[in-house]
Amino acid sequence: MRSFDSAFSYPFLRKYQDGVMKHHYRGIECLRSPIDMAIQGRAIWDLKPGTIIEIGSHKGASALWMADMIDNYGYDTGLYSIDITTPDLSDDRITFVQGDVHDLGPAFDAHDLRNAPRPWFVLEDSAHTYDACAAALTFLATVMQKGDLLCMEDGLLVELGVGENYGGGPNRAITEFYEANPGVFEVDEELCDTFGQNATYAPNGYMWKT
Ligand SMILES: C[S@@+](CC[C@H](N)C(=O)[O-])C[C@H]1O[C@@H](n2cnc3c(N)ncnc32)[C@H](O)[C@@H]1O
Repeated sequence: MRSFDSAFSYPFLRKYQDGVMKHHYRGIECLRSPIDMAIQGRAIWDLKPGTIIEIGSHKGASALWMADMIDNYGYDTGLYSIDITTPDLSDDRITFVQGDVHDLGPAFDAHDLRNAPRPWFVLEDSAHTYDACAAALTFLATVMQKGDLLCMEDGLLVELGVGENYGGGPNRAITEFYEANPGVFEVDEELCDTFGQNATYAPNGYMWKT
């Protein structure tokens, strides 16, 4: 696994993180890095996903943004957003699903997601702990297929100096998963490095199911 080091300097990242926490989309708090929205907007265009599955809805703004992108692109993409607590937002283009990242099977089964149209774009943006990310990777490895794209969000919390609060977070989960399961996922370095090496909230986190 290559380094998770990011081209973001700490002083830039500290201020950028403050902005991400204040970011809104269509008047709704949206905790997604705008730089990653640019990366993901391109990925959605290029992949033309049959289904997008987000884990971690918060107030629903990132799902709303993806629904708008799908409309803008003229795509026919199913959109599901899973959270332990579903948001109040209602939008007939988005199916909000109650589910726990530590045990995604019931949420997938409730909507027959294993048979949802391919390719998939899956965005894991929920608890960010090592345990949660490891559980998500282990489950997703069994349901994702070759040609599906995964974004494991927020490994950058290590660069922000709070990795220990998350048991090492996504970076540790990715590293250990790749060591134990070589060749199951493959990092898309071009997506990760769009704005500089790992200048993303998902360092080494954009990856293809092989
Ligand atoms: C970073 S926020 C999601 C941000 C959202 N995608 C956005 O861009 O606005 C994390 C979300 O993960 C959810 N969450 C926390 N623990 C979870 C778990 N065990 N399973 C599923 N979702 C969880 C929280 O309820 C919260 O809404």
